[in-house]
Amino acid sequence: MWQIEPSGPLRGDISVRGAKNGVTKHLVAAMLGDSPSTLRNTPDVGDVAITAAMLESLGMGVERSDGEITVVPGPVAEPRVPEAFTGLNRIPILMLGPLLHLTGEAELPLVGGDPIGRRPVDFHVDALRRFGAEVRVDENGVTAKASRLHGARIDLPYPSVGATETVLLTAVLAQGKTVLRGAALEPEIIDLALFLQRMGARIEMSPDRRFVIEGVDRLHGATTTLGGDRLEAFSYLVAGLITGGEVRVHGCPQDRLVTALTTLAKMGARFEITDDWVMGSAPDGLRSAAVHTDTYPGFVTDWQTPLVVLFTQAEGMSVLHETVFENRLVYVPALQSMGCEIEVFDTCLGGPACRFHDTNAIHSAVVRGVSKLRGADVTMPDVRAGFSAVLAAAVAGSPSTLRGVHHIERGYHHPLEQFSELGLHVRRVQPAG
Ligand code: EPU
Repeated sequence: MWQIEPSGPLRGDISVRGAKNGVTKHLVAAMLGDSPSTLRNTPDVGDVAITAAMLESLGMGVERSDGEITVVPGPVAEPRVPEAFTGLNRIPILMLGPLLHLTGEAELPLVGGDPIGRRPVDFHVDALRRFGAEVRVDENGVTAKASRLHGARIDLPYPSVGATETVLLTAVLAQGKTVLRGAALEPEIIDLALFLQRMGARIEMSPDRRFVIEGVDRLHGATTTLGGDRLEAFSYLVAGLITGGEVRVHGCPQDRLVTALTTLAKMGARFEITDDWVMGSAPDGLRSAAVHTDTYPGFVTDWQTPLVVLFTQAEGMSVLHETVFENRLVYVPALQSMGCEIEVFDTCLGGPACRFHDTNAIHSAVVRGVSKLRGADVTMPDVRAGFSAVLAAAVAGSPSTLRGVHHIERGYHHPLEQFSELGLHVRRVQPAG
């Protein structure tokens, strides 16, 4: 666990590495090559270690050094992701198509990830069935079989990031043409498509959320440098703004942050932007805002957790409407225990009505600022919520104890060191007992 002493404005430079939500998918893609692939600018995060261990358990060689990973594809001994990986992250479901290509069979444990809603896998399973796989899902996980997958026409009911990746990772080696409509177009997906193209895949992108993929008989290894993590970059910019400091974030291109920067600018933040870094400050304070989350290039759902904490330090009433995940406000009680004035609702506030309109999903929040926060003993429920608790602790009037820090370390590169660099008094302590 971490102990945090509020330490005034956070200032300084930090560098983000390649995106957590990009690197793990590239690792899965590398399984499909018939020669080694190398990824550069890789972050040292828990999700990479988990995914690398999954690949190794399947028979792949994984060589890791600081900032670089090489995957040496090997024959798959048994097409089964061991049960020990149950619930650790969302990556096993992406291995379904690749394992079917490599062995004709796949057995996966239940996927996990953060407790931010039901996180179903029906889009993935439906897509695999359209490719010709026999898929069974039960309480133990997913099993599938296929002799040869063929191209398919797939319409996603919602532009799901993971399901789009499943289709790409499966279509590239399927026999014939796949047309995917309603695809997600997040930068990490485009990076994955480009990496697959580098491996020899034939992928076309159309402007209307459509991918057309011609299956090929083989893919070879490739080398790529991962694009910077926009979720991490945003989080550290907010760390500077919320404490009245100034953080310069290197390593994440401006185009990945466009909506985030505009949203923060409307709240009164000022930015200096170059080809290499973005620096944010709010010398005149912050104003309230109404924001709804969306698919790319909208305001990303992963940005909302730091944003809600920032709202508590902005003058007036702010509104947040979460439209991507039905239960992403699970972290609010922890923030309330630190003095944040937040009320949550099951209605659509702060934007057009969303898919959760007629449900009981608590997916809107009204936040009053400026609140005086106090330190607390809180347990982090997931990776992004974990970062928000650190932000609240950084502006609280007394020390905090944060538990479950493995969540934040699953998604952020060396967060304790990065926060210390910025001047936060944070130290790791062993829980008593
Ligand atoms: N959905 C379904 N059925 C499916 C798949 C998705 O109903 O089979 C629904 C989800 O329940 C959700 C919506 O579609 O309501 C969008 O989910 P999506 O599939 O896009 O999310 P994901 O692939 O599971 C990834 C990231 C998330 C990020 C979202 C949205 C990874 C490992 N996870 O999740 O990141 O919030 O896309 O951009 O890439 C995080 O990094 O902390 C994180 C949660």
